[in-house]
Amino acid sequence: SQQLGTVLTSRVSQYACQRRTTLDNRNKIFTDAFEVLVEHLEFSDSKGPCLAFKRAASVLKSLPSTLRHLGDADGLPCLGEHCRDIFECGKCSRVEDLMCNEKFRTMKLFTSVFGVGPKTAEKWYHRGLRTLQEVVSQPNVHLNKMQRAGLLYYRDISRGISRAEADAVGRIIAETMHCISPSATMTLTGGFRRGKAFGHDVDYILSTPESGAEEALLLRVIDRLRYQGILLYCDYQESTFDKERIPCRRFEAMDHFPKCFLILKLDAMTVEDGGLQNNPEDQRGWRAVRVDLVAPPADRYAYTLLGWTGSTQFERDLRRFARLERGMLLDNHALYDRNKSILLPAKTEEDIFAHLGLEYIEPWQRNA
Ligand code: CTP
Ligand code: MN
Ligand code: MN
Ligand code: MN
Repeated sequence: SQQLGTVLTSRVSQYACQRRTTLDNRNKIFTDAFEVLVEHLEFSDSKGPCLAFKRAASVLKSLPSTLRHLGDADGLPCLGEHCRDIFECGKCSRVEDLMCNEKFRTMKLFTSVFGVGPKTAEKWYHRGLRTLQEVVSQPNVHLNKMQRAGLLYYRDISRGISRAEADAVGRIIAETMHCISPSATMTLTGGFRRGKAFGHDVDYILSTPESGAEEALLLRVIDRLRYQGILLYCDYQESTFDKERIPCRRFEAMDHFPKCFLILKLDAMTVEDGGLQNNPEDQRGWRAVRVDLVAPPADRYAYTLLGWTGSTQFERDLRRFARLERGMLLDNHALYDRNKSILLPAKTEEDIFAHLGLEYIEPWQRNA
């Protein structure tokens, strides 16, 4: 672990926004174990220790080599006593117990459905339901619109989206958008912008040159997708954005911009090379894909791009760093300097990193 020694002497920051984390995770055996514990805690609603495990996994993802000895973890931040058994045996017995625990497995299955969170999953579990087949065939299980779509397209949605499929989605949205407004722009964000080869959805930011036209653009894009017959599901969230509002202290995953969570019908003919990620026996010639679109006003584009690129842990630490180290408040809408009582303008992500006094981290180095 000579390489690690070098890392330790150069000090690993406790903040993910001061680490460069690529997709090349050398400590996957440990981070996978942490992720099982995180899921378990999320099912049981224990926020505190959950965050500690997320931070520990995130530090490990940033290391240039695999931890070999317990002592390797010594100088590293966020890797306290609670992580000991994970290092000692890679997969600790608690993780192995969870993996074969009926309740954990069922919760994992149910929460993997679009629109189903821990509360609904728990309710179904307590009713004695164990499979998705049982859920759909129970006459007295009430499903909302999102859950009905989640179950209807479950097979497609739970299968990863390839880069070629994401590109095909991008061409469809771009073409649709440019028919409405030739000057509008579209930017890939989320996991695919961080370089992931597969995603659970495709995330795009739509933007107009002038602030104020974005909400109408998004509504018209949705209308046209519907007219083309490829809109399988749409949850539209209108703007609740207030220009005067200052970022709040609490971490909010949701922003106030107009956005939509969609399921689109992707035709195999539109996907270059490889084709669809379908099973060979699947002869439909199309698949369902989850797509998220957000349309911020032009002057808030940079904050939205930074916020939607993720990873979630990277975002969480950017905001924590801003607040604790700089006395600033950051979210998807704005950056606010509490000492000077001013909003700091930004045209690019680089502007925001500069305001925060942080070295620029490339999107593919934000896989924290
Ligand atoms: N996000 C957000 N507001 C939302 C939805 C998402 O700010 N209403 C942010 C999330 O915090 C995340 C990013 O957008 O940083 C992308 O979210 P998501 O698509 O859930 O995750 P990805 O990182 O893209 O990973 P995946 O491949 O699973 O989609
Ligand atoms: Mn995504
Ligand atoms: Mn996700
Ligand atoms: Mn998304």
